[in-house]
Amino acid sequence: MCLNKLFNKRLLFVSGKGGVGKTSVSVLLALLSAKLKKKTLLVEMNAAGRIAPIFKCDSIGHDEVALAPYLSGINLLPKRCFEEYVLSQVRFKKIYELFFDNKYVTNFIRAVPGLNELLMLGKIYDLEKDYKSRVMGKKEYDLIIVDAPATGHGLSALEVPKVVMDAVTVGPLHTHAKHILELLANKEKTAFCMVTLAEEMPVCEAKEYSRAIKYRTDMGFGPLFVNALMEKPEKLNIKGSLKNDFKIFQAYHELANKRYQLNATHRKEIDRLFDGFSKVFLPYQFKGLSEQKDFGKLVQQLIGDVS
Ligand SMILES: Nc1ncnc2c1ncn2[C@@H]1O[C@H](COP(=O)(O)OP(=O)(O)OP(=O)(O)O)[C@@H](O)[C@H]1O
Ligand SMILES: [Mg+2]
Repeated sequence: MCLNKLFNKRLLFVSGKGGVGKTSVSVLLALLSAKLKKKTLLVEMNAAGRIAPIFKCDSIGHDEVALAPYLSGINLLPKRCFEEYVLSQVRFKKIYELFFDNKYVTNFIRAVPGLNELLMLGKIYDLEKDYKSRVMGKKEYDLIIVDAPATGHGLSALEVPKVVMDAVTVGPLHTHAKHILELLANKEKTAFCMVTLAEEMPVCEAKEYSRAIKYRTDMGFGPLFVNALMEKPEKLNIKGSLKNDFKIFQAYHELANKRYQLNATHRKEIDRLFDGFSKVFLPYQFKGLSEQKDFGKLVQQLIGDVS
């Protein structure tokens, strides 16, 4: 799938091994989508919140905040998702406060495996569904991008609707899980995007993860994002007596060269293991990616592929 098809979807999940750049790729996709003037929502799932500082925003909570033109952010909190779900069923805040807003229920939400994830996916389902209700004056988004948890947690979160649907065979919980599952499995609307580094462990983990997603969920795949690739350093030619003055520079050059070689070896492995995947290669950014402006170069590089 080429990158422009990705922006015709409605819901993207971005995941991969811890630290490979999931949040950075989610932000990059969100900035590209916003540049295409698509109303975009960047979603964190009960995360520590690395997105807020990128946009110089104090914090992102459970209520959507504007981050940039065409771009909003939300950090889903399971307790608030639960409150919204119960209110949508009983409709009276007083009943919710009386029966559900207490420490027993809070502990119950925490204790039941998978319930947090189901509640957050339920909220994402509602956000996507609101799109159809734009005539009712509700909020709507053209594209929702989820910075999903890393490998293990990410997989269990995406498996939960199927597990619940099989375990609870009738009733509202079954129906709710079924609706979420239908959205996740809808290949027109939803795609699962994996991020990896061109290094041994992340590539192995990405391969296992992609197998698990293929066999344990019904989700379709977006491209594989191969992040932080070191470009081939220019040849360094420091002459005789100057060598001492440029020692640090030389050491850095050697390091960059080694990383380039390592990445090149694993790129071949990626081509072999991810044969059927389209791939997006993202270069290493020497200034890091801690502020919105740091993404400028990558946005420029990719905008031609999406518009
Ligand atoms: N292409 C890149 N070039 C340079 N630095 C990068 C690149 N991609 C990510 N980084 C940096 O690597 C670090 C980890 O990136 P990021 O937070 O996006 O990873 P993550 O997979 O979301 O991590 P976590 O598993 O902790 O959520 C950050 O400091 C980020 O700025
Ligand atoms: Mg992250």
